[in-house]
Amino acid sequence: MSAHSLLFFLLTAVLACLTAAQSIVNPTTAAASATALASAYGYTYAGCYNETTGFAGSGGARALADMSSANNTMTAASCLDFCSQGNNGTTMQYAGIEYGRECYCGQYLSALSEEINATARCIYACDGNSSEICGGALALSLYNLTDASKHSIAWSLVAAQPAWYGTAALITLIVAAVL
Ligand SMILES: *[C@@H]1O[C@H](CO)[C@@H](O)[C@H](O)[C@H]1NC(C)=O
Ligand SMILES: *[C@@H]1O[C@H](CO)[C@@H](O)[C@H](O)[C@H]1NC(C)=O
Ligand SMILES: *[C@@H]1O[C@H](CO)[C@@H](O)[C@H](O)[C@H]1NC(C)=O
Ligand SMILES: *[C@@H]1O[C@H](CO)[C@@H](O)[C@H](O)[C@H]1NC(C)=O
Ligand SMILES: *[C@@H]1O[C@H](CO)[C@@H](O)[C@H](O)[C@H]1NC(C)=O
Ligand SMILES: *[C@@H]1O[C@H](CO)[C@@H](O)[C@H](O)[C@H]1NC(C)=O
Repeated sequence: MSAHSLLFFLLTAVLACLTAAQSIVNPTTAAASATALASAYGYTYAGCYNETTGFAGSGGARALADMSSANNTMTAASCLDFCSQGNNGTTMQYAGIEYGRECYCGQYLSALSEEINATARCIYACDGNSSEICGGALALSLYNLTDASKHSIAWSLVAAQPAWYGTAALITLIVAAVL
């Protein structure tokens, strides 16, 4: 490779890296006036909770492990909308927003995730709305599905009935999906 083409190659590589880096808008610390969205899509704000990826015993698993989405226009409402649509129509019990732009959903919250000081840890503005709080670094603005009518039928049976009933409901769902 000539010195000329090597220089061209390096410049192209640097440009590619810069372009990739620019595609993620890192969050900024929210103004003191920013607030967590109180409720939407059947969810209610539950507080600031710690992310579990780095915890001993978590095996790298997230506090909310079922679904995720991230982008530079994230707001609390768009995350709640995403989690309420859920996996094949099964509304997720929990939704959480982290790092200003990351949305996580789970039927369960990891037992390792606990409430932490929101003022100290859930401090980032949403990438898509600077007047709203969207978690922090390894900290989730957590939302809990409190509107019972939004629970899928299978989910509410599993919660309210003995284990065999949940299994029966699951088998019925699988059979229904196959048919
Ligand atoms: C960003 O993610 C949220 C949550 O998944 C979604 O509702 C929204 O449509 C996404 N925005 C874009 C521009 O993809
Ligand atoms: C939804 O169900 C379909 C059909 O059973 C399956 O192929 C697909 O992977 C499911 N989607 C998710 C996100 O699990
Ligand atoms: C998560 O937060 C709880 C409550 O503050 C704390 O007791 C626990 O040590 C935290 N976990 C880790 C691994 O930081
Ligand atoms: C939470 O954090 C804020 C800011 O660091 C601090 O002023 C406040 O005392 C903390 N609250 C508790 C209960 O520790
Ligand atoms: C931004 O967040 C604030 C506070 O939650 C809310 O009042 C406002 O409607 C939001 N704006 C948009 C465009 O989502
Ligand atoms: C979420 O709501 C359920 C049902 O009301 C409740 O049992 C659970 O403790 C709540 N979880 C959190 C983290 O607040």
